[in-house]
Amino acid sequence: MGKTTTGNHGSKETEIAKLRTHFPGAEKSVYMNVAARGLLSKETRAAVDEYLDTHALGASDKPAMFKMIEQTRARFARLINAAPDEVALTKNISDGLNMVAASYPWKAGDNVIIVPELEHANNFYPWLNVRERHKIEVKSLPGADGHMPVDAIIDAIDSRTRMVSVSTVSFSPGFRTKLEPLGAACRKRDVLLLVDGAQSVGILDTDVKKLKVDALATSTQKGILGFYGMGFLYCSKEWAERMTPVYLARFGVDLGDLNEAAMAGEKYRLMPAAKRFDLGNYNFLGAVAANTSLKQLLDIGTPAIEAHVVRLTRRLADGLLQLGLPVCGGPSGPHIAGIVSVGKIGKGHDASEDPTLDALYRHLSKNGVILSIRRGMLRFALHVYNNDADVERVLDLTRAWQSGRSKVA
Ligand SMILES: Cc1ncc(COP(=O)(O)O)c(C=O)c1O
Repeated sequence: MGKTTTGNHGSKETEIAKLRTHFPGAEKSVYMNVAARGLLSKETRAAVDEYLDTHALGASDKPAMFKMIEQTRARFARLINAAPDEVALTKNISDGLNMVAASYPWKAGDNVIIVPELEHANNFYPWLNVRERHKIEVKSLPGADGHMPVDAIIDAIDSRTRMVSVSTVSFSPGFRTKLEPLGAACRKRDVLLLVDGAQSVGILDTDVKKLKVDALATSTQKGILGFYGMGFLYCSKEWAERMTPVYLARFGVDLGDLNEAAMAGEKYRLMPAAKRFDLGNYNFLGAVAANTSLKQLLDIGTPAIEAHVVRLTRRLADGLLQLGLPVCGGPSGPHIAGIVSVGKIGKGHDASEDPTLDALYRHLSKNGVILSIRRGMLRFALHVYNNDADVERVLDLTRAWQSGRSKVA
């Protein structure tokens, strides 16, 4: 992450503008809610419809479905610069995080480092469970004003640290984690760096090799622009082959070309790399959607998507700040990914503790802006289908709301 494109910029922006017209939701509203779920493109919807029609008519072709699964796996691998066999298909992020957390060969007294206040609950409870089951220590560090405290995490790594688990971008306030120094520090000490990519994959350019990320879990309904109930786990070959999956089924076992129901006796070999984490039949519907949307993202390329999203997000953050709104993190800087949070970090989910922000949220929603409230703050989250007019619209609506309020006052 962190790469931006300069060359070819104009033509990429043209391609991006064209792609926007393939998202009916982007035309209908100012959609700034990818941090909850992304929009479906017309093509993704058409692919899903076709799958449903085939299924409804009893004409499903299982070999073709498996082929589609492998294509989806390969596309996701390409998106993050991994090898296809370093990718397992999962249900969601918790599934992927738990696969790694539960399969790691822990010894009592080992430790994992996390920063609970910046994580989603699903990157917290897996560690409490592992703590109980394997008698490990969970080292919980505080955040640094909403930023991932990378230096403190590195300082906290000791001889019993086996894993560090952080989000690439927090779900709130949505700042990006400086992964490169963390990855380098973990690699030096043979510590597994596991990341929750919920808020970055598909939006920010993510090269797991360059970032030295050992494992990454993500889901498909946000930046990948697919459905709930489907996700991916990347785990490097080196690390995956040091682990034995806690759950095992047919697709985690290497039986060569034997059919999907084949059983070949008690001696078995695990699939290479992360494929050992695959279990039984896949979420084919979710994979059809992800397969199509991954192609759309790959056709543009994540360096150009990141450049586009970060430019718009900076514009939005700085614009709201100029209007006097309490933009979390202040002026746009290197912490900006695709999320702007407005307010003070609190607890409210879908409603803020601050009545003024709640009123602004209602005003924006009434006028066709789709956003969320997380941790008490308004959360605007952008993707490839957003454009400058969306940012302008939010700023104009905010200005109008402010002037209405000042007239009342
Ligand atoms: C950072 C982060 N992690 C995890 C999740 C959700 O986890 P799961 O896919 O397991 O429901 C979300 C949001 O839904 C999130 O924003």
